[in-house]
This record gives sequence, structure tokens and C-alpha cells, in this order.
Amino acid sequence: MTTAAHTLQAMPPLRALDLTAVRADFPLLADRAGGRALVYLDNAATSQKPRVVIDAVRTFYEHGNANVHRGVYRLSESASAAYEHTRVQIASFIGARTAREVVFTRGTTEAINLVAQSYARPRLAPGDEILITAMEHHSNIVPWQLVCGQTGAVLRVAPVTDAGELDVAGFEALLGERTRLVALTQVSNALGTINPVTALVAAAHARGVPVLVDAAQSAPHLPLDVQALGCDFLACSSHKMFGPTGVGILYGREALLDAMPPWQGGGDMIDTVTFEESTWADLPAKFEAGTPNISGVIGLGAAVHYLESLDRGALAAHEDALLKHATDLVSRIAGVRIVGTAPEKIAVVSFVADWAHPHDLATVLDDGGICVRAGHHCAQPLMRRLGVPATTRASFAFYNTLDEVDALADALASAHRMLA
Ligand code: ALA
Repeated sequence: MTTAAHTLQAMPPLRALDLTAVRADFPLLADRAGGRALVYLDNAATSQKPRVVIDAVRTFYEHGNANVHRGVYRLSESASAAYEHTRVQIASFIGARTAREVVFTRGTTEAINLVAQSYARPRLAPGDEILITAMEHHSNIVPWQLVCGQTGAVLRVAPVTDAGELDVAGFEALLGERTRLVALTQVSNALGTINPVTALVAAAHARGVPVLVDAAQSAPHLPLDVQALGCDFLACSSHKMFGPTGVGILYGREALLDAMPPWQGGGDMIDTVTFEESTWADLPAKFEAGTPNISGVIGLGAAVHYLESLDRGALAAHEDALLKHATDLVSRIAGVRIVGTAPEKIAVVSFVADWAHPHDLATVLDDGGICVRAGHHCAQPLMRRLGVPATTRASFAFYNTLDEVDALADALASAHRMLA
């Protein structure tokens, strides 16, 4: 890690929510491919990128490109400084105590795999338990299945209700003598349900069980504060929070990360190497083997800076209005049922129609320029639990408009006329 002293860029002055101006920040939203307006409602899959992020990545390649932590020439030192500056910025954004608690990964999936292999695997004995919930996406299921297969540990799954809410009593009942780790999502990607994470972490901690929070879906919508949440690990992805693809964050409590062995070996994560043995670099480099995604990290820094320039309370209120309007209009279409009706949700509306398969519906919507996701949303067990093979999902970001909700409802009504 570079020792260059960095101070955080001053917080940008807050901009009131001017939707026209905000939308103008995102070049793709103005795209008129095929001569029609783009209505992008697949933000849970990935968000669009503001020009400042695109510019930050381009400027890095045009003027700043060099490897990090390896060169003594100025170009490399300034790339290292920009990379490490972003780490400090992210630490502040998520409320970490120090930048040593922030590891850059390829995304949420890699962050969870890192914890599974480096934290859980050495600690698990046959019969020990990992507790997840029935609303996890595959990234927060499969890494635990792999580590259970490697150690003889058992995966336990807290139930969800028919409305798509976590059954908190069921969750607490599964916290037992053998529970070694809880891994749960803050927000369901498929349904939008917000889990009461602070209370769930407290319940786990009361039994001495550490908690990993999957914040992939919450990071773009809710303020993140790892200390307020009380969690031990937290994972999220840049590309869902307006940054580039291929980069993400693992937060871990310093004492835990310190005690964990490296997961992947390679350059930059070592202190000394001989053919007989190697010793490890200090945190967080110990977990960042090989040349990292430097431009991605710098782009993520620009995304966070951009987010911090907006009034997040106003964004949340606007997203809430989108959710209410979409819930109202979609549920009025004949034969359509919303899947996931928890009272606490981010702006995600997942639905099934008794007159069309979700994929057919998404294809018809696409003909009208409306992008939604159809399928199991990488959450097959949740779909099974709710008794649906798939849903059509509209997922919103702060740059969406009430007019776009109307466009979705109009397109659904015409799909109903066409397909019912
Ligand atoms: N997890 C992403 C989604 O929900 C890919 O679409």
C-alpha cells in the first residue's frame, strides 16, 4: 500500500434532485437506438454510468495509466496514489474504521468467495453450520455450498414468508450452538425486500456469531454504514452503484482480516518469496493478488463521489414514489400478480402474468424500448419457495421517472391485449 499521504477530496456540494439534469449525466439514457426512447428498468442487474465515471476511466487510460505499487517513476506513483485514494474514499463512504478494512475484489461474488475460503474454511468442522436466508441470490448460496462440501459443514436456510419477507423468528430459531457464520442479503435482488439487518446482526452477535452482509443491491439505494449495521463483513459491487463492471468491495473488521490467510497467491500480496516459503504483505494488499482493476477502482471512486454529490434523502424519496406508482399501476393490469409485497422494499417490482411467460413478456416490452429482466434472477431457490418458475422484474434507479413507470404500464396493458 502506498505511503503517500492523501486527504479526501472535499465533499461535493449537494445538488437538489433535478431529474432532467441528473438524467443528462448518464449518456446512455439519452440513447435513441431504433428511433425510440430507452426505458431502462434493469438496474438491479446493472446500473447505467454517469459521464464522470466514463471520463475518469478514459482519463486514467489517456493520462494516468501505469501499474500500481510497483514503480518508482512518477506515473506509477500517481496511479498508486489514485488507487489508494479511492480506498480511503470507500472507507469513508461505508463507515469503515480504516482503509485497511477495505479490500478491492472483482465484485460481490468474489468478496463472498474470499470470506468463504479464507475466513470460514479454516474454522469449519463437520457438523458446523452456516446460516443464510431463502432470499439469497446464487452468489450468497453457492460459495457456502462449496465450503460446506470442503469441510463437512451444513448450510441452514432461514425461511421467508409468502410476501417475501424474512421470517425473523425462523431466522433466530436457526441460530444455534453450531452456527459459525451468518451470511445474508440486506436487500433481495429478486423482490426488493429490505431486511432488518441491524437487528439480525445483533441477534447473531448475541450468540457470538459473526455476520456477512451482502450489500450488492442495497448499496445503490441505502446509505451504508458498517459500524451502524455492526456487521463483520460486507460485500458490494461497483457496477450496481453506477461504477464500472469488474470491481467490488469487501469490508472486513481489521482483526478478522488480519487473522485470515491469503486466498489467492501472486504478485503484490507478498512480503518475501523464496522457493521454500513466502510471507504475506500487510492488509489489505494480502488479499489483492496480481495487478488489480486499477481503472475500475478509479471509476468506482468517481461513482461514489458522484453519489455523494446528490441528496440521497431526496433520491430515496423519489425512488419510493417510483415504487408506489409502479406497484399501483402494475397490480391493476388484469391477471398480473406482484411477487414480493414486503412493506419495506427498494424500488423493485417483480411480477407474473397468468396470460404470458415472463420471458415473452420481457421480449414484448423490449419491442417498446423497455428493458426489464425476466427469469429466476439468480435466485432459483427463492423462486421455488414462492411457487413461481420465474418473474418479470422492473428495477428502478433514481434517474428513472414517473413517465417511465407509465410507459411500463402502457406497454403491459398492450401486451395483455396482444397475448391474453
Ligand atoms: N444479481 C443481478 C440481478 O439481480 C445480476 O439481476
